Amino acid sequence: MNTSEIAGRYAVLANDTCCLSCGGAAGKSEARPDEVCIDLGSGRGTDVLRLAEEVGPKGFVYGIDITDEMIRKASTTAAKMGVENVKFVQSDLEQIMLDSDIADLVISNCTLNHVSNKPKVWAEIYRLLKNGGRFVISDIYSSDPVPEEYALDPVAVAECWAGSVTKAQYLEIIHSAGFKDFRILEESAPYPKGKIEVSSFTITARKDEYSCC
Ligand SMILES: C[S@@+](CC[C@H](N)C(=O)[O-])C[C@H]1O[C@@H](n2cnc3c(N)ncnc32)[C@H](O)[C@@H]1O
Repeated sequence: MNTSEIAGRYAVLANDTCCLSCGGAAGKSEARPDEVCIDLGSGRGTDVLRLAEEVGPKGFVYGIDITDEMIRKASTTAAKMGVENVKFVQSDLEQIMLDSDIADLVISNCTLNHVSNKPKVWAEIYRLLKNGGRFVISDIYSSDPVPEEYALDPVAVAECWAGSVTKAQYLEIIHSAGFKDFRILEESAPYPKGKIEVSSFTITARKDEYSCC
C-alpha cells in the first residue's frame, strides 16, 4: 500500500470532527506513572494526550503518524493544552524513527490494518519495547481472506477494511515477531465493513526475550 495515498486520505480528516477509531486500546492499556508509551497511528493525538496524563510528568508518550496534517494538528493541540511530555513523530510504521528498547507500552487503534507489510510493523513493535514491556493493540480482522481485487485497491485499503487479514494470519504474524503468550481483551461479533465482513478486537502481550521456545 502506497503511504502517500493513506496520508492523502487522512490529511482531509485531520481537522474533521468525525470519529477515526474502532477499538479501546488506550482504555485497556492501564498506563502507569513514569512509563514511556508509543501510539502507532496517533491521528489527532487524542490517545497520546490521554496517556500523557496517566504517565504523569516523569513519563513520556510518542505519537507516530505518517500524515503531516495529523502530526501538525496533534502537536498544536498538545501545545495549546500545555502538555510537555509528548512528541509527535512523522514516520512510516514500517520503519519507525525511534531508538530500540525504549517503551514500556505500545498502543495502536484502528491503524495496523492499513499497513501493507504487517510483519515489518510487528518487528518494529518488538524492537521498540523494553524487555517486559507490553503492547495493547485494537484493530480489525477479516472473516475470510480479502479478495485480491479489494486488497490491491488503495482506496479500499484506506477505508480501513481491505488491508485486513484473517485472525489466524494476524496471530501468526504476532507470534512470528517474538510474542508468545498473547491475550484477547475484547472481540466483537463479525459485522459488514466495505465489501467484506470483519471483527474488531483488542489484543495484548509482553515482550519476554528470555522465554524459551
Ligand atoms: C483510522 S486512523 C486512527 C487514528 C487514531 N489511532 C484514533 O484512534 O483516532 C489511522 C491513522 O493511521 C495513520 N497511518 C496509516 N498508515 C500509516 C503508516 N503506514 N504509517 C504511519 N501512520 C499511518 C493515518 O495517517 C491515520 O492518522
